[in-house]
Amino acid sequence: MRIMKPYTKNSLGKIKGPNNSIDVFTKLDTTENIDVSVVKAFGEEWKKFSVHQEDSVIELRKEYFDIIDETMVNKDTYMIDIGCGSGRWTEYFIDKAGFIEAIDPSDAIMVADKMVGQKSNVRLTKASVDTIPWEDETFDFGMSIGVLHHIPDTKQALISCVKKIKSGGYFYVYLYYRFDNRGILFKSIFHFSNLLRWVISRMPQRLKKITCDILATLVYWPLAKITALFYKLKWNKLARRLPLAAYYNKPYYNMRNDCLDRFGTKLEQRFLRSEIEEMMKGAGLTDIKFGETAAFWHAVGRKG
Ligand SMILES: C[S@@+](CC[C@H](N)C(=O)[O-])C[C@H]1O[C@@H](n2cnc3c(N)ncnc32)[C@H](O)[C@@H]1O
Repeated sequence: MRIMKPYTKNSLGKIKGPNNSIDVFTKLDTTENIDVSVVKAFGEEWKKFSVHQEDSVIELRKEYFDIIDETMVNKDTYMIDIGCGSGRWTEYFIDKAGFIEAIDPSDAIMVADKMVGQKSNVRLTKASVDTIPWEDETFDFGMSIGVLHHIPDTKQALISCVKKIKSGGYFYVYLYYRFDNRGILFKSIFHFSNLLRWVISRMPQRLKKITCDILATLVYWPLAKITALFYKLKWNKLARRLPLAAYYNKPYYNMRNDCLDRFGTKLEQRFLRSEIEEMMKGAGLTDIKFGETAAFWHAVGRKG
């Protein structure tokens, strides 16, 4: 197992988590490439969805990590999870990697400390993409799952992340897609849902959470069940076309979590596959490989 490397920046202080004392490097202000209101909303979101439910990650793991293999992550890998949230994906790699640094600027880091803080090969740090407290070229593998589209300058954020990866190492990213592989109806539904997001994300916390639970129950869950039925009837083509079809095999817990993620966040950006590829190349990645099935888009590249 690899030994973690010391911080190369001065810590601004420490906060007490359930298992560890966690160093803080983010000031959470406009000097960083960060949207403070988004980060606060995520702190609330992950407190609400802090209970780790195994069935809520099983299908998602298959979707996200279908393009990761042992040449990228193995027992010698020193890795970083950027924007780790509750730590659910950090946990997935605990038995696969050598040592994992998991960072997040929000209070979700406390939830992550509860989930993975007792493991000997994980360290949690309260930091943002702009305040990653290690030298450039430190990590063999880095990942940022569902994070960089919630940051004002996604392109620059990706550059900041990839800088921390060693030459020959890998960086994995999942960014919201701009429905480039969908038809006009799907895109129109999205525009309507975006209006809803504008309203819901500005609601007071409690009302926002209740509204998202209602949406999950009245929209996500029925559509997921209809999709499952279509698959059962072997109407696969039709099933795949339904909005929210990806939830057909996911538990209700995921729907509530993702609904709050989707509608509770003020800043959300979406990208075409070609734009993501261009940003990854611009950040210094080569041999870029995209996942060809949901979640769209997830991709990994090697630092040249
Ligand atoms: C949708 S959550 C994803 C969490 C986790 N990666 C997952 O998939 O479960 C987005 C996370 O990005 C974090 N985040 C927001 N702005 C960030 C920034 N500037 N740098 C690093 N993380 C950030 C949030 O605090 C939040 O926990």
